Amino acid sequence: MRIGIIGAGQVAQSLGTRLLELGNEVMISSRDLSKPKDKGRWGILPSAAGWKDEHEIKGKKASAGSFRQAAEWGEVLINCTEGTASLQVLRDAGEENLKGKILIDLANPIGRTEGKAHLAFCNTVSLGEMLQAEFKETLVVKTLNTVSAEVMANPRVIRGRHDMLIAGNDYKAKSWVKDVFLRKWLGWKNVIDLGDIRASRSLEMYLMLWLSLWERLQTTNFNIRIVTE
Ligand SMILES: NC(=O)c1ccc[n+]([C@@H]2O[C@H](COP(=O)([O-])OP(=O)(O)OC[C@H]3O[C@@H](n4cnc5c(N)ncnc54)[C@H](OP(=O)(O)O)[C@@H]3O)[C@@H](O)[C@H]2O)c1
Repeated sequence: MRIGIIGAGQVAQSLGTRLLELGNEVMISSRDLSKPKDKGRWGILPSAAGWKDEHEIKGKKASAGSFRQAAEWGEVLINCTEGTASLQVLRDAGEENLKGKILIDLANPIGRTEGKAHLAFCNTVSLGEMLQAEFKETLVVKTLNTVSAEVMANPRVIRGRHDMLIAGNDYKAKSWVKDVFLRKWLGWKNVIDLGDIRASRSLEMYLMLWLSLWERLQTTNFNIRIVTE
């Protein structure tokens, strides 16, 4: 399948690589294809073009383009952009290129004050809802935003049972993301459906707890497991 990834950063490269390994065609996208990604304490990632070359040489069907090109080319799209920029990036990518397609949204709208991360907006609105409200004919499915890039692409790095959460309005789109994308391709065994896209509010608000856990645990390889009586 042709997967158009909007973005070329840590998540785009991590998920993109996994999706290539699974036999898909993947295009990642950026404002500047030749600029390496400086991720501070995480090191420097290849540019979008560098990522493409690295995988093309291994015989994988990798490509790199503009946000608009990836949106037009992809049969399924994944929003891997900075959450506060996502709405504008997707507008620039062209509503007509998103129409009728599944858009997996894993972005968090992170703002910063004095170097500390917080949610730029939350509680009464969420990015997932904003995207669905703006792109009415796009099938927005919110998921994966609650774990690190590494865990997203390879849930087996965490031992034992742990859960992925999902929300979206369109039942068929959500079923495909749940059964094919998450379960069959990425190996997410337990997926809990939180209902329609309004639940992306709580999914995004989880970021603050995730950040506290990260500070405490000193690793990004963790996730939650929901237990009931
Ligand atoms: N990293 C994680 O472990 C993780 C986990 C869960 C959720 N997320 C979420 O996933 C998304 C991507 O995370 P990431 O770590 O991959 O981020 P990243 O490495 O910083 O990459 C961000 C991407 O967003 C684009 N972007 C940023 N600001 C932009 C702007 N003003 N206009 C247009 N494009 C802009 C960048 O485009 P250029 O290529 O043109 O610079 C880049 O491709 C974020 O929303 C993040 O909250 C990340």
